[in-house]
Amino acid sequence: MTGRDGASCAVTQDAPTAASSSHPDRSAHPAHPAPVLEVRGATLAFHGRTLWSGLDLDVRPGEFLTVLGANGSGKSTLLKALLGVQRLGSGTIRIQGESVARGRRRVGYVPQQRLIPTGTPMRGRDLVALGVDGHRPGVRLRGRRALRARVDAALAAVDGTELARRPIGQLSGGEQQRMRVAQALVSDPALLLCDEPLGSLDLHHQQEVVSLVDQRRRSHGTPVVFVTHDVNPVLPATDRVLYLAAGSHRLGRPEEVLRSDVLSELYGTRVDVAEVAGRIVVLGAPAHLDPHHWEEGA
Ligand SMILES: Nc1ncnc2c1ncn2[C@@H]1O[C@H](COP(=O)(O)OP(=O)(O)OP(=O)(O)O)[C@@H](O)[C@H]1O
Ligand SMILES: [Mg+2]
Repeated sequence: MTGRDGASCAVTQDAPTAASSSHPDRSAHPAHPAPVLEVRGATLAFHGRTLWSGLDLDVRPGEFLTVLGANGSGKSTLLKALLGVQRLGSGTIRIQGESVARGRRRVGYVPQQRLIPTGTPMRGRDLVALGVDGHRPGVRLRGRRALRARVDAALAAVDGTELARRPIGQLSGGEQQRMRVAQALVSDPALLLCDEPLGSLDLHHQQEVVSLVDQRRRSHGTPVVFVTHDVNPVLPATDRVLYLAAGSHRLGRPEEVLRSDVLSELYGTRVDVAEVAGRIVVLGAPAHLDPHHWEEGA
């Protein structure tokens, strides 16, 4: 698939009608740069319930991978595994060639939204600055001016300069979310993990966040793993989709995965994918597997 700036992005090489489920991501090509993220045979289960298994994934520089799935399908847990804070049942994860077990610093992370308590004694700006030096005391002293400039730029990018002067706990959910996106970007990440960053955002700010993340991967080649319940706002940016359901998954280009036959096979029951008023809508999945997702479209 042609992705950013006409560059060729990683694709699965399975038959065009079937998105990959258990085969390795064989997108290697001499012309392709090395993957930033490599997942091999990743499996995770809690209390006997498998979230995903046999997950093989290469994410290359500049790629935008959208992760979809029902509530509880394991999207956030996957991001935590990529961050190295959730151990796999089996399999390996490497970022820039290094095992995540060793801990990576240059991973930008927008966590799934939790409201920050009203009385939190921190301004939006302080939260963003933690993205630069929160884990490296000393940087603050050595490069105070440079730090300020980076924080200013990240805040400006999310239209958050004024908001950042206010106590973070007093900001609305959507405003807090914009501070979190700025925090993830300010660290100059080699890989960007976003867990439903569009939650609580109005349409305007949704578009702004998507375009910000899209710009980042185009200008810096930072690959993006983006969890969302609604694929529509990110569809134009999406190179591939990873769809988690029923302990299994499908991986491929949006048109390979968001298909009635592919999702019906994944869920083990009839599922229809339709385009309604320019939006992709997925209908018919079992409510107990996906109670939320279907109401909002794929
Ligand atoms: N540390 C843990 N111990 C036991 N179960 C866990 C643990 N972490 C997550 N789970 C369970 O794993 C499942 C997947 O959780 P996860 O947060 O990854 O879902 P999700 O796909 O992000 O859902 P949502 O769309 O609601 O955010 C849930 O049923 C959750 O309760
Ligand atoms: Mg989640």
